[in-house]
Amino acid sequence: MKLCVAFDLASKDECIRLVKELKGLDLWVKIGLRSYLRDGFLLIEELKKIAEFKIFLDLKLYDIPNTMADACEELAKLDVDMINIHASAGALAMQSIMKRLQGFKKRPLILAVSALTSFDEKGFYELYKQSLREAVLNFAKLSYENSLDGMVCSVFESLLIKEHTSYDFLTLCPGIRGLNDDKNDQARTATVREAKEARADFIVVGRPIYKSLNPRLSCEQILEQIHSK
Ligand code: C5P
Repeated sequence: MKLCVAFDLASKDECIRLVKELKGLDLWVKIGLRSYLRDGFLLIEELKKIAEFKIFLDLKLYDIPNTMADACEELAKLDVDMINIHASAGALAMQSIMKRLQGFKKRPLILAVSALTSFDEKGFYELYKQSLREAVLNFAKLSYENSLDGMVCSVFESLLIKEHTSYDFLTLCPGIRGLNDDKNDQARTATVREAKEARADFIVVGRPIYKSLNPRLSCEQILEQIHSK
């Protein structure tokens, strides 16, 4: 299981400071909407020069199939290691993307977001009139059948997804919190241990790391939990 640190910081300087502080650790960096909309690809280039972290560009694309394929082609040219789309964009969008990226010698991993981890069961039902479990499984099967590489999901759905698709189908789980951490706006949170038990391939941790007094130490403690038996 890999640790992916969300760089959702308020300025480019803070992102640069954080990457310098974490240099040398075995982790991935996740660049999300805030940082990418503000700093664009220059931030990724600068981060890459400082440390050799793999990059997950978390833009959660959602549009008509051709527009999504165009966007994924552009992102693939940026040489990032992982990107994502909303699974609810549907089968045609997935097929167009995977077809478009066929020609790339090295393409990024493509994950699909099932249901945001900020939804609880009640809030999800009110909007979609479906249980989270049912919706996530449908999205996972659709994504697997259309050759995506994996899902963004909560820890509580990771094992379920693998059991209904394949154990090689990746799961990346945000909403990870220690027992004493603030949940913030996350609803379906879980611990590192629970993520391991659910066979998550990646965990995403943001605020508990970048808002801590010692982000490097926070990362090291999480990495220790990942590697402990
Ligand atoms: O600060 P925190 O640990 O809650 O950060 C979680 C990160 O994971 C944020 O960048 C958020 O955008 C992202 N994310 C999420 N839930 C999803 C997909 C992505 O929280 N389903």
